[in-house]
Amino acid sequence: MKIGLAGDHAAFEYKGKLIKYLAKQGIETVDFGAYSEESCDYADFAHPLAEALEKGEIDLGIAICGTGNGMAITLNKHQGVRAGLAWGTEIARLVKAHNNANVLVMPARFISYRMALSCVKTWLATSFEGGRHERRIAKIPIQK
Ligand code: RB5
Repeated sequence: MKIGLAGDHAAFEYKGKLIKYLAKQGIETVDFGAYSEESCDYADFAHPLAEALEKGEIDLGIAICGTGNGMAITLNKHQGVRAGLAWGTEIARLVKAHNNANVLVMPARFISYRMALSCVKTWLATSFEGGRHERRIAKIPIQK
């Protein structure tokens, strides 16, 4: 299991702490940046994470910015990505169980680190329920 993490300046602290937490669990991580708290643009880190996911270089992603919306909007431009925003553990559970989100997105400026960690733990521990949700997520990509 390899997890990619990406965040802008607003997410630098949480991303670093999550990388340390995941390493302690024996989970391999790839840090797509940002690498400091200097002001930067979330899309510069979201696209490389999404591309790595689409190529199968990572299995899952965690993306964080101030509101989570910049990351989610950018990541979901990629066909192979289902990025879901969570700010509480029940939403973190449902975004995997119902939407099979392969990227968990969180808003660093609106939740504590403790809550972010709880969301990550819940999302990782939850399995996709399949069934009717399989049919629903199959309709997400633009049908040509
Ligand atoms: C950065 O100030 C902020 O715009 C960004 O972290 C995010 O909230 C954008 O969606």
